[in-house]
Amino acid sequence: MTDNKSVFIKTYGCQMNVYDSERMSDTLAPLGYAAADSPESADLVILNTCHIREKAAEKVYSELGRLRVMKAARAAEGRETLIAVAGCVAQAEGEEIIARAPVVDMVFGPQTYHRLPELIDRVRAGERPAATEGQAPARPKVVETEFPLDDKFDHLAAPTETAVRSRGVTAFLTVQEGCDKFCTFCVVPYTRGSEASRPVARIVEEARRLVAAGVREITLLGQNVNAYHGTDEDGRPVGLAGLLARLSELPRLARIRYTTSHPRDLDDALIAEHAGNPKLMPYLHLPVQSGSDRILAAMNRRHTAADYLDLVARIRAARPDMALSGDFIVGFPGETDADFEATMDVVRAVDYAACFSFKYSPRPGTPAATMDGQVPEAVKSERLHRLQALIEAQQTAFAERLIGRTLPVLFDKPGRLAGQIVGRSPYLQPVAVMAPSSLIGEIADVTIEAALGHSLIGSLAGEPAAARRSA
Ligand code: SAH
Ligand code: SF4
Ligand code: F3S
Repeated sequence: MTDNKSVFIKTYGCQMNVYDSERMSDTLAPLGYAAADSPESADLVILNTCHIREKAAEKVYSELGRLRVMKAARAAEGRETLIAVAGCVAQAEGEEIIARAPVVDMVFGPQTYHRLPELIDRVRAGERPAATEGQAPARPKVVETEFPLDDKFDHLAAPTETAVRSRGVTAFLTVQEGCDKFCTFCVVPYTRGSEASRPVARIVEEARRLVAAGVREITLLGQNVNAYHGTDEDGRPVGLAGLLARLSELPRLARIRYTTSHPRDLDDALIAEHAGNPKLMPYLHLPVQSGSDRILAAMNRRHTAADYLDLVARIRAARPDMALSGDFIVGFPGETDADFEATMDVVRAVDYAACFSFKYSPRPGTPAATMDGQVPEAVKSERLHRLQALIEAQQTAFAERLIGRTLPVLFDKPGRLAGQIVGRSPYLQPVAVMAPSSLIGEIADVTIEAALGHSLIGSLAGEPAAARRSA
C-alpha cells in the first residue's frame, strides 16, 4: 500500500553517501514518498551521516538538536515526523545515538538500506496518537546495524528515468563497497564492512539505464575502487580495468571516472587502460596520506613514499596529461617535523592538480587513537596551514597553465550569468562559457581564457574573439 508522504534526506560525507541517498529515495518513491524541499515539510527526515572525522560526526548531533525543535512544532500542529539516522555514524554508534538524541526514531547502517520499507513499517506499526511536547516518545525505536549476507544492491530500487533526468548529466555508480585495508586511523572498515564488488552485468545494466536517461559521465565509486574484483556473465574474474573497458562500449557514455584508489591496488592493467581508453578521464585521485615512510608504516598503508612516486611516474609515462589529486593527514601520532617535511617533499615532487588535507582526528576503536605521541592541536594546525598553502599554489598554477589551451568541456548546468553555461574540464574544474543552453549534456571544445581560483572561464573554440567578448 502506498500513502502520500514526503522524505527529506540530508547527506554528509563522501560520494558513496550521495549515491546511497539517491538509492534510498528511489526505494522510497514506490511507497509514496515524494522528495520534500525542507525538513520542515517532511514526514520522514533521514540524516545520511559520516564518521570519518570527529567534526563530521558532531555535525549530526547539532542537526538533531534543530530537528527536535522542528518535530515538536510539527507535533503541535498534529503532524508527525519520523527522524532516522543512516550512514556511518549510525553503523558506528547504533543505539548510543538514541540515548544521546531521543528525538531519533530509527538508526540503520549502510548495509541495511534495501530493508528501509520494512524498517519504516516496523516503526509505524507501533503508531499511536501524536506525542505532545514533553511526553515520552510515542513510537518504538528501530535500530538496525547488521551486515546481512544478501546483497543490498540486488534489492535497492533502480532510479526511474525521471529521477535520473532530475539529477543531471553526471552520475555516481557504486561498484565496490567496504574496505579490508585497515589503515590505523580509519573507521571505514568498521562502518562499511569488508570489501565487496558488484557483478559486472549489474553495473553495466545500471550504467545503461543512466545513459538511456541522458547521463554522459559516470563516476564509479568504491572506498577502494581499484580493488574491484567482480565476475562477468561467464563467472570470469574482472578487475577495474576490465570493467572500465566494458562500460566504454556504451556509445552515449562520453566520460568515465573512478574514485577512490589505493596505491597498492593500482595495477599495470589499469595503467594500460588509462593509456588506451579515451573515455577514461586523465584525472586520478590517489591518496598517499603522508610522505614519511615511518608514518606510512604506522598508518598501515603498506607502501613507501618511493613506491608512490614510482607509481605516479609510471602513470604519467602511460598518460602524460594525467592530473593527480590526493588526500593528506597531518599530525598522525608520532609525526615529527622531519616526517612532515617528507610529506611536503612528496607534494612538491608530484605537483598535484588538487588535494584534500586534514588534521588527524582520533576515531574511537581505531588503533591510532590510542597510539603514543598524539600531536598537539596547535602543531597540527600549523602544519595543515603550511601544507594547504603549498597545495593551493600548485592548484592555482595548474589552472593557470591551462590558459590559452583548448579543452573538451562537458556542459552540465546553467551558469550564474544570463547566457552562460557551466561544465567540467577533463580535470574536474568548473568551466564557465557564454554558450546556448542547448549545449547542456554535450561536450564542446572550449578555449580557456582565464582562471578564477579553481574555476576556469573560456569561450567556444572556433568562435571569433570579438563574438566571444560580446556574447
Ligand atoms: N579509501 C580512501 C580514503 C577514504 S577516507 C583511501 O584509502 O585513500 C577519505 C580521507 O579521509 C582519507 O584519505 C584520509 O585522508 C581522511 N581521513 C580518514 N580518516 C581520518 C582521520 N581519522 N583523521 C583525519 N583524516 C582522516
Ligand atoms: Fe580507510 Fe585505509 Fe580503507 Fe582507505 S584504504 S577506506 S583510508 S582503511
Ligand atoms: Fe564518511 Fe562513511 Fe564516507 S565515514 S567518508 S560517509 S564511507
